[in-house]
This record gives sequence, C-alpha cells and structure tokens, in this order.
Amino acid sequence: MAKRIQFARTGGPEVLELADVAPAEPAPGEVRVTNQAVGLNFIDIYFRTGLYPAPSLPSGLGTEGAGEVDAVGEGVAHLKVGDRVAYAQGPLGAYAEQHVLPAEKVVVLPAAIGVETAAASMLKGLTVHYLMRQTYGLKGGETILWHAAAGGVGSIACQWARALGVKLIGTVSSAEKAALAERNGAWATIDYTREDVVERVRELTAGEMCDVVYDSVGKDTWETSLDCLRKRGLMVSFGNASGAVEGVNIGILNQKGSLFVTRPSLNGYADTRERLEWMAGELFDMLESGKLTVDIAQRFPLAEAGEAQQALQGRRTTGSTILLP
Ligand SMILES: NC(=O)c1ccc[n+]([C@@H]2O[C@H](COP(=O)([O-])OP(=O)(O)OC[C@H]3O[C@@H](n4cnc5c(N)ncnc54)[C@H](OP(=O)(O)O)[C@@H]3O)[C@@H](O)[C@H]2O)c1
Repeated sequence: MAKRIQFARTGGPEVLELADVAPAEPAPGEVRVTNQAVGLNFIDIYFRTGLYPAPSLPSGLGTEGAGEVDAVGEGVAHLKVGDRVAYAQGPLGAYAEQHVLPAEKVVVLPAAIGVETAAASMLKGLTVHYLMRQTYGLKGGETILWHAAAGGVGSIACQWARALGVKLIGTVSSAEKAALAERNGAWATIDYTREDVVERVRELTAGEMCDVVYDSVGKDTWETSLDCLRKRGLMVSFGNASGAVEGVNIGILNQKGSLFVTRPSLNGYADTRERLEWMAGELFDMLESGKLTVDIAQRFPLAEAGEAQQALQGRRTTGSTILLP
C-alpha cells in the first residue's frame, strides 16, 4: 500500500485526507514514480476548492513531483526503472508516495539537480520559462510588472529577469517580502499594502509604464494591472490567487491604450514531448549555471498537505514549498 492525499468533496483544507491505496500498475505509455519530494502549487488549491473541477471524485491532488521511476509500462522508450526524474503536468495525484502518469510528461534529471530542487521548480520554473521566453519573448531592456514577486513563481521570475537584463518591478505585501524579491534580482518593489501601485510604476518608469504585466492575483489586481501598461502593452493574466477575473468588457483594452491580453497556462505551452524537453533543458541550464537558485523556504510532511495549503493561501509562505512523502 502507498499513502496519498485525496479529497471526496471540494472545500477547505479539511476535505483533504491521507489514505492508503494499492499503487496502480502503469498502463502502456505510462510510468510509476516513487516520489521523494512533491511540489506545492496554488493550482492545487483551485482544484481543492472546486474553482477548477477535478475530473472525478474522490480525486488525488497535485501535479508536480520528483523521485525515481519504479515501474515502466509497455512502449516507453526514454525511461527505465531507477531513473531519477521530475514532472509538472499530468493527472492529479502527485501528493502521494507513488504516482502513475504518462511517460511523455516525465523528464530525466541531470545528476547535478537534486529531487527537492526539482520538485520545487519544475512547475514554477517551466511557467516562468514560457511566460518570459515565449508568451512575450523578453530580450533584455524591457520593464515588466510582476505580482507576488516573493512567492514561488515570483522568486524564480526575479532571478530569470535579472539573467535576461529585464527590469522587473515586483509587488509584495511586506518589507520582508520586498527585501527577498530584491535579493532575487527585482529591479524595484512596491508594497501594495501601503503604496499606490500605478503611481509608483509611473514614478519608477518616468511615465513610460510597463511593456508587460504578469498578473497571477486575478480579480483584485486586473484593473490596476491594465493601468500599469504602456500603450499597446501586453497583459498576461495567469492566475487567480484572489479569485477569477470575470465579466470583462473587451472595450476596456481600447480605452486603456490598445492593449493586448492573454490568459495562458503551462499545458498550452509544454504541450508536446519535444517542447517539454526544450523548456526543461533551459530550466536545468539555469539551475546548473547558478543563475537560478530555488529557495525551498517551507517543507511539510505529506500528511500535513492541508496545513501547507493554508500557509500558501494565507500569504505566509515565500519562495517554494515542498511536501515530503
Ligand atoms: N497559468 C499558469 O501556467 C500558472 C502556473 C503556475 C502558477 N500560476 C499562478 O501563479 C500564482 C503563483 O503561484 P505560486 O504557487 O507560486 O504561489 P505564491 O506566489 O507562492 O503564493 C501566492 C502569493 O500571491 C499573493 N497574493 C495576492 N493576493 C492574494 C490573495 N488574495 N490570496 C492569496 N495570495 C495572494 C501573496 O503574495 P503577497 O503577500 O506578496 O501579496 C501570496 O504569497 C498563482 O496564482 C498560480 O495559480 C499559474
């Protein structure tokens, strides 16, 4: 038997239960991974609360982990038993000692990258890759606004922006988070609990405003974010930490300066094995070169997944959080 976190109804952290399940055998094209570390992500909370519907209930939770391949289904060529691997996509169920998923979603880890680092950076790092390298294609010299700059995705974004020569203005909710984001390479920070974000962006950019705004907060920041863009700037709405953006009148893009908007997801970018290998390769290069260091600021036992989610939702975490089976 193997332990896994599951939920039979949507709701608060109390719906999460630790269950003993018989590990499934991998079907053709699948592998089974014995997880040594599991990544905690905000999207897990969206599934638990029902904002994103799970395909069926009871359901496992989580999509990010790292460990060792312990069984391989028919027809899988690129993985074998004993390989050290990581993954960030696929069916819900990574919050578990063992997880079965399509082999095409799994990549082999370079020897220099530990399983904890991998579990703390696959989903978040691949997300920063597509947001900065593909959704816009930052070249260096641009000014961007990044909300939640001291969080899991944000901490990686600050370092990646520094490596690209991009001026990242990060929003945060405390002086400690501001200091952390700046240590990670944010060009400037704005504490939105005591500063006016649009006015500060105007001052910092001498009225030019931002080329791109990366907004994962959603409902609470939508309009502020649009006001931080230059004419014809790009609004990238990629998350809902405060709730989903709804009821948008498309005319607002015209009123605020012929703006562009996109609502992307990792699955829309890492959608083929080739693209996943390319994106993971660039992420691993960033880690191996030391340009990117993943700050695992919180570790929780798997059984305490509910507490971990409460900390993430309650803005009490910084950097990445992992669960240990
Ligand atoms: N579309 C994609 O492909 C994709 C992929 C990965 C992640 N995401 C999104 O990226 C965001 C960051 O994910 P993460 O796992 O790294 O989380 P995180 O940034 O570590 O945590 C969320 C942070 O958001 C800020 N926040 C602002 N308003 C909030 C609210 N009402 N409730 C909770 N937090 C609020 C908090 O920072 P402050 O205290 O500084 O405000 C909080 O620490 C999430 O929205 C997630 O859904 C999207």
